[in-house]
Amino acid sequence: MGDPGVDYEIRRFEPATKGSPGYAAAAAWMQAVAFGFHDERRTDARVDRGLEMHLVDRRILTGAYRTGPAPAHALGPDVPVATFGTMDKTLNVGFGRLLETRLVTAVTVRTPHRRRGLLRRMMIGELALAQEQGLAMAALTASEASIYGRFGFGAATSEQSIKVDTSARFALDHAPMGTVEVADPKVLLELAPQIFERVHRLTPGSIGRHEFYRQFVSGSVRREGEDGDPKVRAALHYGPDGGVDGYVSYRFCGWDKEPYTMEIVDLVAATRDAYLELWQYLAAIDLVERITWEEAPVDDPLPWALADSRCVDASTPRDMLWLRILDVGKALEARKFSADGRLLLKVADPLGLDDGTFELNVQGGEATVERVSPGHEADLELDISALSSVYLGAVHPVTLTAAGRIREGAPGAAARAAAMFAVERPAHCLTHF
Ligand SMILES: CC(C)(COP(=O)(O)OP(=O)(O)OC[C@H]1O[C@@H](n2cnc3c(N)ncnc32)[C@H](O)[C@@H]1OP(=O)(O)O)[C@@H](O)C(=O)NCCC(=O)NCCS
Repeated sequence: MGDPGVDYEIRRFEPATKGSPGYAAAAAWMQAVAFGFHDERRTDARVDRGLEMHLVDRRILTGAYRTGPAPAHALGPDVPVATFGTMDKTLNVGFGRLLETRLVTAVTVRTPHRRRGLLRRMMIGELALAQEQGLAMAALTASEASIYGRFGFGAATSEQSIKVDTSARFALDHAPMGTVEVADPKVLLELAPQIFERVHRLTPGSIGRHEFYRQFVSGSVRREGEDGDPKVRAALHYGPDGGVDGYVSYRFCGWDKEPYTMEIVDLVAATRDAYLELWQYLAAIDLVERITWEEAPVDDPLPWALADSRCVDASTPRDMLWLRILDVGKALEARKFSADGRLLLKVADPLGLDDGTFELNVQGGEATVERVSPGHEADLELDISALSSVYLGAVHPVTLTAAGRIREGAPGAAARAAAMFAVERPAHCLTHF
């Protein structure tokens, strides 16, 4: 399809605002990302807005460029044929501990240049750099589940779409401890990050949010288009002390969609009461008989709190957050473990970033990890992608053993690992990036 003789140069650079050096390259990169995800072409104002947000997040933009001229009339060599973005945020690794993590985003390759190893080049370069910079973890969300395992990523949290019937059937047995009141969604510009931060510290698998979120959930910006979203509404939950400890941002789907439906843009609750009471509020909205949410937790308390759990119609769970351990010792020592014990792990790494045999010793929940010489019979043999999936308890190691992804050297070792790696509540990630 494309010219096989083309060579590419990989460039890494920072976002830049209008009038500053590097703006043209950053703006071309933004347009290339929109193209890669089949979004509408960005207006200049939307590009500028996006770059401002990227600066807040201290993103690094990576592009692959043709080294020679482009064919006549085609996009020029200043427009990247492939894009790759990164930023650093924290990952909750259980029991309130946060681990600095390199997030990979905006991965696109222009069609005539695909399957020539551009993703591979950018990914290997970035993961090696992150490791060199001392990071123990990388993360991404995947458009297709078949792409990233080969680079050592493993699915580590799931989510599901739900449709909740809020007609007379909906009865939630919960005596409210607080109150809910409607607010101007713009208050979320300030409140959303504060409330999210509380939830982030409580939720294993949570990723710190980037600047786009507070703008998006407050209706100040849309994924596409220049303006904000005037359809967005917000309600706040006030706890018994009068402080705001949860919010829901939502929009009406229109009178032509039956049953009349409200879709949740974001629901963030820092207490159990706030979660249930925000649902009570949503269910009480007049003229609406259905609430939908695309990012619901798989282990959702809602159906268990309802008199009729079948009010919640849930999709098949989808993989959401993918993790990639870059440094086995650091990643394991960053965690607090649920059970003490010793495990000898033989870890294979398709990129050779960190493989070997590691002795994990946990005492009082604290881990020490030592690399041991090969030749010891390991308790568990697995690749880095499987270890990354086990890391926050997303999958039971016994299940991965049955799938052939873990080889158990000592009988019962997978069950022991499950008890050790368990986190205090099911992992869930509310942040798409
Ligand atoms: C997915 C995408 C980035 C791949 O880029 P690419 O440059 O063609 O990938 P590479 O040539 O570096 O391929 C690397 C490896 O991944 C495999 N691969 C790439 N895309 C794949 C896909 N969609 N499904 C399965 N395997 C895939 C290749 O076969 C290759 O395997 P190998 O190295 O083991 O032989 C590109 O197809 C794309 O832009 N897709 C649309 C946007 C998108 O989905 N982005 C991902 C967002 S999370």
